[in-house]
Amino acid sequence: MARVAIVTGGTRGIGAAISLALKERGHTVVANYAGNEEKAKAFTDETGIPAYKWDVGDHEACLVGCQQVEADVGPIDIVVNNAGITRDGTLHRMTFDDWNEVMRINLGGCFNMAKATFGGMRDRGWGRIINIGSINGQAGQYGQVNYAAAKSGIHGFTKALAQEGAKFGVLVNAIAPGYIDTDMVAAVPEPVLEKIVAKIPVGRLGNAYEIARGVAFLASDNAGFVTGSTLSINGGQHMY
Ligand code: CAA
Repeated sequence: MARVAIVTGGTRGIGAAISLALKERGHTVVANYAGNEEKAKAFTDETGIPAYKWDVGDHEACLVGCQQVEADVGPIDIVVNNAGITRDGTLHRMTFDDWNEVMRINLGGCFNMAKATFGGMRDRGWGRIINIGSINGQAGQYGQVNYAAAKSGIHGFTKALAQEGAKFGVLVNAIAPGYIDTDMVAAVPEPVLEKIVAKIPVGRLGNAYEIARGVAFLASDNAGFVTGSTLSINGGQHMY
């Protein structure tokens, strides 16, 4: 059945692939973005998927933004919390701002978007919230105390909200991507990335559509008995 879906960080990288995968399955898709105006415009021109600009780390902006989306395209049934940033560095170099921005956007964004949409889903008796966690939230990663903590928090958030939503038909799941061929991963210094790829059993980075297809499954009616789960898509790098 066709639904209304919003994908945060939905105009680039994994988010863009998710937006397209949901559109291909017949959903009405809206992409949220925060920064790159030019890429967002190009994405909309190319795909016909409208892009709405706000910072998911800003609580009020999420409430207002989702209200606007609902006024424009209808009640939001599916939320994909994909927006995220990295501010990598070992603890002794990491500033409070590096810590706080990653927590505010990556983890706070999930809370803010859920606050804006969960009540409506519960009232209508159907909803899907799909949170993009990370292998590094499951296993930790050198130089990422902020990101690993936020992503690990997303996995806990998912399991807690899944318990609250189940009896109202609102299913909440996470995907934990491994290293995917995106701008974010391309920012990892090459010698470090080579060592990481050497440890991936399938022998390569993943691609964004391999994550997007997992999201499309969790958003579908085929996943009606799946809630509180984490789907790891990481080429076997961490078997959890
Ligand atoms: N385990 C143990 N030691 C490590 C290590 C690791 N994984 N990585 C680096 N080190 C060691 C290095 O060998 C080096 O030691 P020596 O000086 O004795 O040789 C020391 O730590 C310093 O390493 P760097 O030279 O790399 O230090 P730096 O300060 O220049 O950079 C860093 C540190 C920013 C953390 C850099 O190593 C880095 O970017 N690492 C990658 C972090 C990462 O994987 N980020 C993922 C981004 S993508 C993502 O997050 C998406 C997702 O969900 C998967």
